Amino acid sequence: MSIFEYNGSALVAMVGKNSFAIASDRRLGVQLQTVATDFQRIFKIHDKLYIGLSGLATDVQTLFQRLVFRHKLYQLREERDMKPEAFASLVSAMLYEKRFGPYFVQPVIAGLGDDDIPFICTMDSIGAKELAEDFVVAGTANESLYGACESMYKPGMEPEELFETVSQALQSSVDRDCLSGWGGHVFVVTPAEVKESTLKGRMD
Ligand SMILES: *[C@@H]1O[C@H](CO)[C@@H](O)[C@H](O)[C@H]1NC(C)=O
Ligand SMILES: *[C@@H]1O[C@H](CO)[C@@H](O)[C@H](O)[C@H]1NC(C)=O
Repeated sequence: MSIFEYNGSALVAMVGKNSFAIASDRRLGVQLQTVATDFQRIFKIHDKLYIGLSGLATDVQTLFQRLVFRHKLYQLREERDMKPEAFASLVSAMLYEKRFGPYFVQPVIAGLGDDDIPFICTMDSIGAKELAEDFVVAGTANESLYGACESMYKPGMEPEELFETVSQALQSSVDRDCLSGWGGHVFVVTPAEVKESTLKGRMD
């Protein structure tokens, strides 16, 4: 089994009309044994920027703490928040720094940039960025997430429809992957507000 698969995960970010959604499962396991059902993989960097980290749980938490540190230094020096594009480059550079002993994570970054234009991106564990205009996925459920998102995504969704679409895509994908699931955690971010929800799902 790959080190990326030990703890299990499912992550997805999707773009709507002037908004985005980012969602994850809540399972933490050691291979097939479930250890916790309230694990956090999506983190807030600032009001309009979120990062989800799939992969090895310990590296998820370490990398998140280092990213918060780097973002705070940026805020002190620049007196503003980081734009999503700049943040993605920071994550990419920090991962490539560890090219020969990488963090075993695959990040998903989602934010609102200038004029509240949504930005989503994912990258591999050594920081090779992959940009998209519709959705990005990561984690052990990646294949079923691609399938679900490809059939459910529509361009220009309003926040309510976006929430419904991303939640249904997540739930139907994790049901096809035994290493992720046990409920979901969804953020829908618009210029005016952030809606955070926890989903109940199959607990088996
Ligand atoms: C995540 O997987 C690693 C590798 O098997 C394991 O050592 C660790 O215990 C798991 N994390 C937790 C918190 O169970
Ligand atoms: C993506 O999905 C495939 C097939 O389910 C799996 O083998 C692979 O390990 C997954 N990628 C990650 C990073 O978990």
